[in-house]
Amino acid sequence: MTKVGIEKINFYSPDFYLDLAILAEKNQQNPSKYYNGLGQKSFCVASLDEDIVTMAVSAAKPMLNDADIAQIDTIILATETGIDQSKAAAIWVHKLLNLNPNCRAIEVKQACYSATFALQMASNYVKNHIDKKVLLIASDLSRYQQNTPAEATQGAAAVALLVSSQPNLAQIDDIAGIFTEDVMDFYRPNNCSTPIVDGKFSTQIYLKAVEKAYDHYQKQGGLAFNQFAQYCYHLPFTKMGQKAHEKIAKTTETEVDLTKVEKAMVYNRQIGNSYTASLYLSLCSAVDLRDDLAGQSLAMVSYGSGCVAEFFRLIISENYQENRPKIFNPQPFANRKALDFDNYNLFWNRIDNQADAIIPQQKSSGCRLHEIRNYQRQYQL
Ligand code: CAA
Repeated sequence: MTKVGIEKINFYSPDFYLDLAILAEKNQQNPSKYYNGLGQKSFCVASLDEDIVTMAVSAAKPMLNDADIAQIDTIILATETGIDQSKAAAIWVHKLLNLNPNCRAIEVKQACYSATFALQMASNYVKNHIDKKVLLIASDLSRYQQNTPAEATQGAAAVALLVSSQPNLAQIDDIAGIFTEDVMDFYRPNNCSTPIVDGKFSTQIYLKAVEKAYDHYQKQGGLAFNQFAQYCYHLPFTKMGQKAHEKIAKTTETEVDLTKVEKAMVYNRQIGNSYTASLYLSLCSAVDLRDDLAGQSLAMVSYGSGCVAEFFRLIISENYQENRPKIFNPQPFANRKALDFDNYNLFWNRIDNQADAIIPQQKSSGCRLHEIRNYQRQYQL
């Protein structure tokens, strides 16, 4: 049986961030509610010249060499904050990365879950096309209405995964537990720039859905819960992952060992919710910060509101340390710049929904959105 999975992985998050102590002061909350209650320290804020395309390009570009580019015949962009109702953002990314014209380009959507669907489809594809590679990028800019409880859980990031028959980072196991139910916990109608969220309900549904997905995983003969060396969760805020872990541990009568979760939360605690990218950012955090995962099983727990959940296993490769994000980006947070509340406000009020706009330069380097002409986005590398 051909082994398939993730050959390389890299992430990108915007350079600007808001410390949650600043938001707490503005919203008259105790900072401990955000730091300890939600388990978040700060969130990344996209500048006006940053969007899901610029983040996707910035995540993928450092990890791709010419040989990869020659073999990529499919690019999938997973997002729930798309920039066009018709055209796939993957096409802009395809151009900016100078990919082969003989390549499929597509965008997928199902809230925060869609990258997991794309990863499963890509793995099945490369199983039958072992000389081809799929570039999968999850990219999202999470924004909620200001002065609401959800505001503290915003964020932005992209994670790029090269899926191939050389799973040098991690092999994907065939067994997956899945669960779908029609619920309205979080949704964004076409005319809304921010989602409508029933916050408390969404946390209950998240817990139910991941438990159901785990039950399904078990019914198919998956590993027992205590057999994993590391657990990665979709992390709208890190406390959510901890609660899910404790819940599955309780129902399976497994001792709760948070040391097997903690390293997968470090990046997300700084970056905030990155929707489709969140689970894969958690994976980046775990493989970057742990040196003892070779040959170990890692649990991936995916959730997307609406809702779909999936529980699956990655088997970490012997040489994963040569293919983890810090190889491509040794100091991912080195250039971070703290925002004050006024500048956060300026960045929050995006101008990229206009027909025509000259976008001010706020990013100091890398791919940026510089102009919109007749609704057509113009990017600079
Ligand atoms: N010190 C320490 N902790 C404190 C505190 C203090 N001073 N004050 C409050 N807390 C704790 C609370 O006890 C609570 O913890 P527990 O849940 O463990 O009891 C926590 O801080 C949050 O406080 P509240 O219960 O008062 O909740 P809130 O009104 O601030 O809302 C939220 C929290 C519902 C998560 C809100 O941030 C939200 O709506 N977020 C967006 C929706 C979301 O992320 N849902 C998650 C599941 S859906 C999903 O996963 C998809 C997705 O990505 C969106």
